Amino acid sequence: MTTYNKTKIEFLPEGTFGLEKLGKLPVAKISLFKEQAIKVSPLAKHVLNRATSREMYSNVIISIKAWENISKLIGPSFGEIELITNAERVKTTNSILADGMEVETATFKAHEESRMWFRENDEQIALKRDGINLPGVGIKGLKKWIAEWQLSGLKTEVWHDKKSNEYALKEHRERVEKSPNIITLKTTNNKQLDWLRCGCDYAKLQLACSLSGFYMQPLSQVLQEYTEMNALAKKFENIMNIQNNEKVQMALRVGKSKTPYLTYRRKLEDIIV
Ligand SMILES: Cc1cc2nc3c(=O)[nH]c(=O)nc-3n(C[C@H](O)[C@H](O)[C@H](O)COP(=O)(O)O)c2cc1C
Repeated sequence: MTTYNKTKIEFLPEGTFGLEKLGKLPVAKISLFKEQAIKVSPLAKHVLNRATSREMYSNVIISIKAWENISKLIGPSFGEIELITNAERVKTTNSILADGMEVETATFKAHEESRMWFRENDEQIALKRDGINLPGVGIKGLKKWIAEWQLSGLKTEVWHDKKSNEYALKEHRERVEKSPNIITLKTTNNKQLDWLRCGCDYAKLQLACSLSGFYMQPLSQVLQEYTEMNALAKKFENIMNIQNNEKVQMALRVGKSKTPYLTYRRKLEDIIV
């Protein structure tokens, strides 16, 4: 098998498109090449083991030196990548990010979307190789067994059960509010190309953090655009000092944690056309 070591990426090869064409038209054309002399990025060795961590993070703050190193590893970015470590700012922001999950869970339609993406047991996780699941949020052993039993069949009324959701939200808030670092990715516009280019920034950021021993978890609830989230989203934008058409595309908690559950990777033949 030929080993390729260089890529050329062409975004939106068939032009921009609306939500109705999502999943039908390509977002990028990636060409692979083989070159003799190539400088391998230090980020490359983390491609296979980078992982989102939804575990509890320790109180280790990213130092100026560590951040300089992470920024150097990322190189030039499309959008603005900001690290927030100031205790007061982290506290206020974390609280809003945790509120975001409460609003999402209380909004039937938004919480239903999570149900659709939820893989209820190991068999479904291995089969679908995507979505969200219990081990992914650090639930193991007896707790996992009980939760799997409760969620079996993913019935709507069980998924929206107030008491179980209150318990999950409490755990989530604790993990978010104890996280000592936040990173945001911001673009000056909010068009399809901004999303894609910012996605590339995110990929490099995650690899650079991984290389530096830090895990991240995106907390996207407050960035979603629907009526029930509007008030909280506005509050978040205010504290982020958002101007004109700017958009925070991603907000992440970042820190050191125990090794998280490694999600399944998609099979190559399911991705390549
Ligand atoms: C745009 C975007 C938004 C995401 N939002 C969330 C989120 O709100 N909460 C979360 O736990 N993970 C979020 N994730 C992380 C993915 O769920 C995660 O990458 C996926 O579960 C695969 O796991 P892995 O990163 O460990 O491979 C987001 C990822 C992307 C790219």
